[in-house]
Amino acid sequence: MECDPTSIKTEPPFTDYDAQLTAYRETMESLVQRTLEAHGRIQQYIYKTPLTYSIPLSKQSIDCKVFIKLESEQLTGSFKIRGAFNKLLKLSSAGDVVKHSGIITASSGNHGMACVEAGGTLGIPVTVYCQRGVDEHKKQALLDRGVRVVLHGNDCVEAENEARAAAMREQKEYVSPYNDVDVIAGQGTIGKEILESCPDVDCILVPVGGGGLISGIARYVKQVRPSVEIIGCQPQNSKVMFESVKAGRIVLEESLDTLSEGTAGGVEENSITFPLCAEYVDDWILVDEEEIGKAIIFMLQHHHKVVEGAAGMTLGAYMKNPERFSGKKVVVVACGGNIGIDKLKHLLSLYT
Ligand SMILES: Cc1ncc(COP(=O)(O)O)c(C=O)c1O
Repeated sequence: MECDPTSIKTEPPFTDYDAQLTAYRETMESLVQRTLEAHGRIQQYIYKTPLTYSIPLSKQSIDCKVFIKLESEQLTGSFKIRGAFNKLLKLSSAGDVVKHSGIITASSGNHGMACVEAGGTLGIPVTVYCQRGVDEHKKQALLDRGVRVVLHGNDCVEAENEARAAAMREQKEYVSPYNDVDVIAGQGTIGKEILESCPDVDCILVPVGGGGLISGIARYVKQVRPSVEIIGCQPQNSKVMFESVKAGRIVLEESLDTLSEGTAGGVEENSITFPLCAEYVDDWILVDEEEIGKAIIFMLQHHHKVVEGAAGMTLGAYMKNPERFSGKKVVVVACGGNIGIDKLKHLLSLYT
């Protein structure tokens, strides 16, 4: 049979993902060193959070030891203070311009609060852009601190794009909540603390929104202990990074409401967290709303700790299939504790 050359589909020499990987390789290489530097830079400003052994979670699986990294007890109630301090300390050491003009950031709440805290310490004014449906409790916490909050768009990426544009217009520095190597390096200090406290950990469960937290932890941990399995956790209702890694490019996908509002929404175009997740995340677990809600209540009942939806989601990722972790030493990153009393009351009425 004659072969029609026009019908032959040739693969492009490399996919977008490969091209992106090459472009970002240098930055990705530098992240371990940046994380070590971040650790030295921020440690006097933040807490070294406890890594607490969980008997009730460990008992759910055979020969399994589960530890919870309690970032819910971190200053400002979430891990976000690590990246915020690292970034703002670097900016403030670079000169007085930032101090005078301030920074603009975008946030689902926690990163905004972290920037405000770091900005307060360093004398840097902060404006926070949030999407319109931002969690009431987190918005109110920002307003209570007298922060300038601008509501824009219906997804975090819309708020981020507008915040970037405003920073250009107003000639201020824009601080991304995840697409920034200094922010990622700050979050990566959690990986360093985990390995120091639990050097023989087998796997680490990490919540994923824009991917800054898991990128920092995974890059550092894979360098120091490559055998550690890094598992990304997302709500079934909002799983943009999971779908993006599957597709080999950042996808546009609408998110539904989720209790894990900290991880909800899209991922900024060309975010460096995408190649980092594609390269360093070994597996993914998706968690439904009931599993998130029950995990939040579980923490209250069994550990007397208040955690927010994103942390419940990550604990729920373990609890939905504990057998997967039998024989292993597991660390779950309980990323935040900022949950409003109304949400908590509702969950208590549903699950107790
Ligand atoms: C409590 C909490 N957990 C997880 C995340 C997700 O972090 P990242 O966007 O770095 O993946 C956020 C982001 O705001 C958060 O506030």
